[in-house]
Amino acid sequence: MEIQVAERLRKLPPYLFADLRRKIAAARERGVKVISLGIGDPDQPTPDPVIDELCRAVRDVNDPNRHRYGCDVPVPDFPRAVRDFYKRRYGVALADDQVVATSGSKDAIAAFPLSILNPGDLAIAPSPGYPTWNIGHVCANAVTYYVPLLRENKFLVDFDAIPREVCRLAKILWLSYPNNPTTAVANLEFFKRAVEFGRQNNILIAHDSAYSENTYDGYRSPSILQVEGADEVAVEFFSLSKAFNMTGWRAGCMVGNRSAVVGLRTIKENIDNGTLRAIQFAAAKALDLAEQLLPPINAVYQRRRDIVVDALNASGWSLEKPKGTIYIWAAVPEKFGGSSAAFAAELLEKTGVVVTPGLGYGQWGEGFFRISLTYPDDVIREAVGRIRELRNAE
Ligand SMILES: Cc1ncc(COP(=O)(O)O)c(C=O)c1O
Repeated sequence: MEIQVAERLRKLPPYLFADLRRKIAAARERGVKVISLGIGDPDQPTPDPVIDELCRAVRDVNDPNRHRYGCDVPVPDFPRAVRDFYKRRYGVALADDQVVATSGSKDAIAAFPLSILNPGDLAIAPSPGYPTWNIGHVCANAVTYYVPLLRENKFLVDFDAIPREVCRLAKILWLSYPNNPTTAVANLEFFKRAVEFGRQNNILIAHDSAYSENTYDGYRSPSILQVEGADEVAVEFFSLSKAFNMTGWRAGCMVGNRSAVVGLRTIKENIDNGTLRAIQFAAAKALDLAEQLLPPINAVYQRRRDIVVDALNASGWSLEKPKGTIYIWAAVPEKFGGSSAAFAAELLEKTGVVVTPGLGYGQWGEGFFRISLTYPDDVIREAVGRIRELRNAE
């Protein structure tokens, strides 16, 4: 018997990092000494106080619920810590019904469109951008309209360039600053314009703030919810993954617009069972200690950022040092004719270095490649040296 799979499976693009992992494995099999700067999964350890709180909570024999479904017996301390964090960090007061706990943000980003989009609906996503935004639309049988992020616009969405018909039909617009993969940052004026755009066109603005805490040189990224009245049209997905070196833990939240919070909560109640209580306790601890835990983590990324940018600029690139994210976004050397795949393939073949081709983030990512700073300094130094050699080779 041949199983007939859903049409939707055919619409899903090959998952970028699954593809990258396969290429790395194949190169290793061919005997290439591979060093990867491909995947944005922090190498630094989760901070000790967070681990201690996890251990305390998971061993707490006085808590009869410690092994139970995290959704049925949630930890009130987690949404409390989210509200306190938003108040301290942004001066934003969130009410109880404006916070929904999520298991990291990827799953929630993929599931959220099910609560907003009907089959055939339109939603807008920036290109290049995080692939899961579109994947969520595909799973809801909706359609993505891609808006380009252009270097000449500092990789900010140009709201005026979105066609009128798209504005009329679309129900969600995704944004994400500090931005993966372009590393661009946005100021509060930009978020004001986004909120105005959402209001004018009746479009929900979904701000994915996965990198809000990964910032450098004293820069602090704003929240869209700082804009007056933003919660009428906006939500923000926050994740502890990249900020606190907690990718495997799966802790995060969506905050903001009340109807959207009810929508995501309803979907989640029906398709998942929440996060282990001990993780919720530990995530609350991380947020409570954010001011203490984040600076040393970011100091490491800032140092690595400088190693990469200084080295690449010394051999022909002219990159600015990004203020946020854990990445470097650079143009493919001219001799590859703008093809990020050709550059990444030759780099892997000749030097064993893995970078992510910009095309993997969408059509408008072509011509660029992404380096992740989530690898030890010596690995980064070695890899960047090999990239320079390839550029300089005839
Ligand atoms: C823009 C963006 N959003 C969301 C995520 C998801 O991260 P997590 O599910 O660990 O919160 C990532 C991960 O790379 C990302 O780059």
